[in-house]
Amino acid sequence: MRIVVIGTGYVGLVSAACFAEMGHHVICVDTNAERIAQLRAGHVPIHEPGLDGMVHNNHQQNRLHFTTELRPSLANVDVCFIAVGTPSCANGAADTQHVFQVAEELGKYLPSSCVVVNKSTVPVGTAERVERCIAEQLALRHAAFAVPVASNPEFLREGCAVEDFMRPDRIIIGSADAQSAQVLQSLYAPFLRKNPRLLMMGRREAELSKYAANAMLATRISFMNEIASLSECLGVDVESVRLGIGSDSRIGYDFLYAGCGYGGSCFPKDVRALIHTSQRHGLSSHILQAVEERNTIQKAGLFIKLKLQLGYLEGRRIALWGLAFKPGTDDIREAPALQLLESLMHAGAHVHAYDPVACANVAEYVPKQWLDSGQLTLNAADPYHVLERAHALVVATEWKPFRQPDWKRIAACMDKHIVIDGRNIYDPLSMQQHGFVHVGVGRGIAHSSEAAALTNAA
Ligand code: UDX
Repeated sequence: MRIVVIGTGYVGLVSAACFAEMGHHVICVDTNAERIAQLRAGHVPIHEPGLDGMVHNNHQQNRLHFTTELRPSLANVDVCFIAVGTPSCANGAADTQHVFQVAEELGKYLPSSCVVVNKSTVPVGTAERVERCIAEQLALRHAAFAVPVASNPEFLREGCAVEDFMRPDRIIIGSADAQSAQVLQSLYAPFLRKNPRLLMMGRREAELSKYAANAMLATRISFMNEIASLSECLGVDVESVRLGIGSDSRIGYDFLYAGCGYGGSCFPKDVRALIHTSQRHGLSSHILQAVEERNTIQKAGLFIKLKLQLGYLEGRRIALWGLAFKPGTDDIREAPALQLLESLMHAGAHVHAYDPVACANVAEYVPKQWLDSGQLTLNAADPYHVLERAHALVVATEWKPFRQPDWKRIAACMDKHIVIDGRNIYDPLSMQQHGFVHVGVGRGIAHSSEAAALTNAA
């Protein structure tokens, strides 16, 4: 098939590369000329395991192309994916302006009928509105064909996006016509050979499924974070509770890890968008509002724990391991580490941070004077280097090499042996044996009532 993918963010670029990998002819279109030039030169602008090689090979073999020009790309196209960003507006609603800009252009320039598929995460009813928007433009130029619009939400996780796309848990196709249902079924058939879970439904149902899936996962995390706070007050280890409830097959183990809060480009934005949709329909979104509130409190937790351990933070040297919102990515959107950095900078602490891939994004994001003054240093080369004379180590992202570090070497580097374990990757007992004060999340720590009071005040 000839496929056009509009938008070269995570979803667009991964989808395009994976479709090309299956033998299709794919053109990626983006208005960002710099990004397109980078991609043409063989540079993939995001860190995503397996993506570089796949983009490079398919580009070399003439199956994957990059351009800023939508109109010429649409000749003989069979399927056109919309995969542009839908960021949060100030009121929490999803901003769909880019989706509708694309719809208008498709209506103006499509030379013949094709299936338009919306992959962006969009409010319920958007596929219908996109279809109407295209139809209006087609009518203006008296085009003698119609363009059906389907909804095909994407569930890939950053850090394993290629793997998720090639071997999905399920594919959801929301359609209102036989042509798009049939085209998409055949397009996805090779991805579903091992696990043939293709779910056909209406477009509105597909759109809400995407939001509901992310909101459900975020709810599990916030729920566990709340149980973790309670565990701290009760002297309970939340890790045992996680195993205790995860072993119930009705609950399962996934997404039950307490930690320093969820970040990323999806959960925070999608939870807010769903709250906004509920409110617009006169409903109070009690559960999701609590999920979001809990996450805000949770992100403040790292700073509170540090303060409790060190008493004051001005002039303290803090080592920070991990800046990305999760391992396997250089994405720092809504990362808990960013909130911690801001609090530490305001408190006058000095932070020496290590992350294998996210430093460049942080350097672009933070105020320049933090770096110029040396109050913040970023290191992508050596996790041990940032520990020199540190008063505490904070782990904000569970990168694999952090899991079993050389504790003797760490103890020799640091001034104080305090580890704030924001991802619960260390065993409290063995940390004690290594001679460290270990503060995890929900691991039955002392100072519990003080911590609870501060958490509630945050
Ligand atoms: C998520 C969804 O998983 C994916 O299906 C959707 O398409 C996009 O949003 P992603 O944001 O890439 O994917 O990462 P995910 O692995 O889901 O983690 C999101 C956040 O939750 C991270 O900050 C992670 O650290 C946190 N998390 C995850 C927890 O705190 N505890 C958990 O148990 C799991």
